[in-house]
Amino acid sequence: EEADYQKTIKRFEELVASLPKGKGWMTEHLVYYKGCWLTAYGALKGLMFIQDHFKAQPTDIFLATFPKCGTTWLKALIFATMNRSRYDFPSHPLLSASPHDCVPFLDAYIFQNNPVSSIHSLPSPRLFATHIPYDLLPNSMISSGSRFVYICRNPKDVLVSKWVFMNKARPKELPPLSLEDAFELFCKGVSHYGPFWDHVLGYWKASLESPEKILFLKYEEMMREPFVLLKRLTEFLGQPFSLEEESDGVVHEIIRLCSFENLSSLEVNKTKVKRFSNQLVIDNCDFFRKGRVGDWENHLTKEMIERLDQITEEKLEMVLD
Ligand code: A3P
Repeated sequence: EEADYQKTIKRFEELVASLPKGKGWMTEHLVYYKGCWLTAYGALKGLMFIQDHFKAQPTDIFLATFPKCGTTWLKALIFATMNRSRYDFPSHPLLSASPHDCVPFLDAYIFQNNPVSSIHSLPSPRLFATHIPYDLLPNSMISSGSRFVYICRNPKDVLVSKWVFMNKARPKELPPLSLEDAFELFCKGVSHYGPFWDHVLGYWKASLESPEKILFLKYEEMMREPFVLLKRLTEFLGQPFSLEEESDGVVHEIIRLCSFENLSSLEVNKTKVKRFSNQLVIDNCDFFRKGRVGDWENHLTKEMIERLDQITEEKLEMVLD
């Protein structure tokens, strides 16, 4: 196994040296790989390890997102739903662990669990999150029959959320990233796993082709009608709520447990950190900012709004009604 690992590292090092580079949002620049901007040592290397070493199983469930579209929330919702017969609400793991500890990112999991074979013996269904765009997913993840839940969000809120998040996560010796610079990078697509619009479109098209394998959700709809959408999610995952569960209030309990107000007020999410790798350590509280629809109104200028809306209309007319 060690030899296979070294082969992947060599393949990565050769590839990364040949790729175009773009300005990063933190210290590390981004590299352009097959139409997508990735951090080299986090995302691209992770992707190559997934390509070379991960075998998907038909029972796997992947939460796919563009960063800042509601990953943390959906991790909590899927985890709570799929394990609802295992845990009682008063002693639920989500009360003392971050959603990011309950549902790992696939690439981070592979890095932190060398040898990767341990991943193949996890109990099913395995729950993983990923930011990899649909077109870059290894064939095995698509053809295995695994299910994907995708959540997208209004790009104006994504930009603001990302800009604030990056400024908190940036090393303190760097000057803050201005909203103008963040806006330019985002519009050009130079943002982690960007361009945003291509990311959404990839999963959107795939969800139309294979609705039984890919569920496409929107943050705004989830906020508006959590009850309806959580029921849709469980049906899609093959674990619909029984009438008894509904009358016992289980659906409402899960929604309440995973709500912004509840999760953001927990000690673990106020004071602890999440170590994604040696380089990337994030305060859990940075994953919870406002949790609202439309906060962009408080930040973006008229010109910014017009330009973002125009790109979105051109590229995503059919997706964002
Ligand atoms: P804001 O910055 O607009 O508040 P991700 O989890 O993909 O990184 O996305 C983070 C965004 O989701 C942040 O948006 C965060 O506040 C919001 N969020 C986190 N937990 C949430 C929850 N339980 N319900 C709704 N939104 C949530």
